[in-house]
Amino acid sequence: MTAVALPLEADLVAGLKRLQLAHFRAVAAETLQTATTQRWTPEALLRALITTEVTGRNAANLAARLKAAGFPVTKSFDDFQVAASSVPPATVDYVASLEWLRARENLCLIGPAGTGKSHLLVAAGQAAVLAGFKVKYTIAADLVETLYRGLADNTVGKVIDGLLRHDAILVDELGFAPLDDIGTQLLFRFVAAAYERRGLGVASHWPFDQWGRFLPQQSTAASLLDRLLHHAVIVVTEGESFRMKEARSRAGGQVVRTTTPTTTARRAPGGLVNTPVA
Ligand SMILES: Nc1ncnc2c1ncn2[C@@H]1O[C@H](COP(=O)(O)OP(=O)(O)O)[C@@H](O)[C@H]1O
Ligand SMILES: [Mg+2]
Repeated sequence: MTAVALPLEADLVAGLKRLQLAHFRAVAAETLQTATTQRWTPEALLRALITTEVTGRNAANLAARLKAAGFPVTKSFDDFQVAASSVPPATVDYVASLEWLRARENLCLIGPAGTGKSHLLVAAGQAAVLAGFKVKYTIAADLVETLYRGLADNTVGKVIDGLLRHDAILVDELGFAPLDDIGTQLLFRFVAAAYERRGLGVASHWPFDQWGRFLPQQSTAASLLDRLLHHAVIVVTEGESFRMKEARSRAGGQVVRTTTPTTTARRAPGGLVNTPVA
């Protein structure tokens, strides 16, 4: 039977609290007991306690950054079936490498519903958090609403500065609802502020030549696209909705197929381009 570890002396507990070494404190009594019975060297004891603190803090920091990023779901590149996607493996690898983010390029995912845009956007965001980046995920409607609120109390600049404290800002579902003139201008202000400074990730079911459908101010829309696409990785997803495919396989092929709109965005060889497609 292993001896029950004696509780840590009160002054040690107080000191560890004062130094905010919570993980160290949590295992200290037990680790001291083990060190005594197993005759650890002083260095081994110190190392075990410090390692526990460092590991615990790293995990807590990662969890906090993942929570702050606001992802709606957990998605990874590991659970993205490349063979089931129209996106070439090299493109998926490039997105997953986060080289675009390190180079402060943007990531634009364009394609019909259910073709993996959000999956890739969230997977890229979560990979970025794991790699130490500060990331914010938002759907476009929420972003515009936040900017609008800033307009009401004259804090748009502050709202944008707050967003730009992140290394990557991921805007999903762009174009689901049309924006009005002010919404278009606010979105432009945000894209212009992030231009060449931060990595923007954007997903939309509208090909670029259709963005006038949700951005009514033509000249602002053109300026927005100009900045968004100047340094950008453009990934065009095509084909049938993954949700529909899954539903059909669950039903043994009995699901009636609904038509999905096909994208008219031009696609570069290999599906990856670094220059604007306007
Ligand atoms: N190639 C893929 N491999 C694995 N799951 C996929 C793939 N493409 C899409 N999915 C899944 O199908 C569902 C719909 O994909 P999603 O990324 O939300 O589509 P979109 O944002 O293009 O409408 C999600 O649950 C997503 O994880
Ligand atoms: Mg989506």
